[in-house]
Amino acid sequence: MSHQGQGDHQPAGGLSTPVGSRRIFFHWVTVAAAGFVGMGLAIPLIGSLISPAFTRRQRAWVDVGPVDDLPIGHPTQLDHVTTIRDGWMEAKSHKAVWAVKQPQGEIKVFSPICTHLGCGYRWDDAENKFLCPCHGSSFDLNGQVLGGPAPRPLDVLPAKVEAGRLLVMYKDFKSGLPHSVEL
Ligand code: FES
Repeated sequence: MSHQGQGDHQPAGGLSTPVGSRRIFFHWVTVAAAGFVGMGLAIPLIGSLISPAFTRRQRAWVDVGPVDDLPIGHPTQLDHVTTIRDGWMEAKSHKAVWAVKQPQGEIKVFSPICTHLGCGYRWDDAENKFLCPCHGSSFDLNGQVLGGPAPRPLDVLPAKVEAGRLLVMYKDFKSGLPHSVEL
């Protein structure tokens, strides 16, 4: 006497019945559905993990001091510590900028990096211009090139005044190009 259920019945020759084929079909449909659900959950998770690695460097405004301390028409070097977020990395870095207060009160802030090949430059009181020691580029009070191989004026940094304090957003630029390209 047979105890096999109707669905388990195998005909002679071992061929699957239509019921057996349906069972296999539904099995694979279930597997595929589970796969889609899994991918739906995994993709946002993976995206949240790797997206910081592709995020551009994030800069922040940095307080570099009181604006009243800046003389009019004379460059002042302002040192500060800035925090740079690069993907998951966060680093503090000591930077300096050059700030020039205009007669009308506007403040222009220059990157401290020469636009030729990236050396640091300084203000020369005797010659009344910025001088780069590496290859002799020079720039006027407005950052315009006066001489040497520098291909463009000094790079200007975003700056604003809040509650009497000068805030600067430090950025790096590619050197050697005729126009500013941020790194
Ligand atoms: S790096 Fe300044 S002149 Fe070359």
